[in-house]
Amino acid sequence: MALLRIRKFPDDVLKKPALPVESINGRLAQLLDSMAQTMYAAPGVGLAAPQIGESQRVIVIDTDHEEPGKHLLKLINPEIVESEGKIIWEEGCLSVVDYTADVERAKHVLVRAWTPEQKQIEIEGDELLAVALQHEIDHLNGKLFIDRISRIKRELYKRKRNKMLKEGKADHDERPSKVLI
Ligand code: NI
Repeated sequence: MALLRIRKFPDDVLKKPALPVESINGRLAQLLDSMAQTMYAAPGVGLAAPQIGESQRVIVIDTDHEEPGKHLLKLINPEIVESEGKIIWEEGCLSVVDYTADVERAKHVLVRAWTPEQKQIEIEGDELLAVALQHEIDHLNGKLFIDRISRIKRELYKRKRNKMLKEGKADHDERPSKVLI
């Protein structure tokens, strides 16, 4: 296992739709272990493979920071099969430095996925887990939460980010005390 480098906006890999996994093997299990380790170290409640530069449809999520690891989800080729209701959550992202914004999502989702043990499972999520599942699956589709906010807010963030990059603060990582997905 190893800590992986988290790619930050505007890295191109974050815009690319990830490819479905065709074979669940030891290498993939190792990647998922390293992703989980990287997520806990960040710290964050979710991480998608494109965020560490691997364009594959795999995510890890753990919304329970009281007992890390106990409810860790490692999902391969996850798909939303049902969604219901609406919720507005202030989202942040490990790939979007220094920014959070309110995003509207479904309040409840049902997700179908494969596990590293090659089992097909269904996960029901409400509230933060529902938000995290939708946010991570968005990453697999090349979408960030800033693609779901108003254009003016997005442009303001891009301008701020470009200024940071020009000033050589690309890896400036001061985190707000928010949950990062
Ligand atoms: Ni994210």
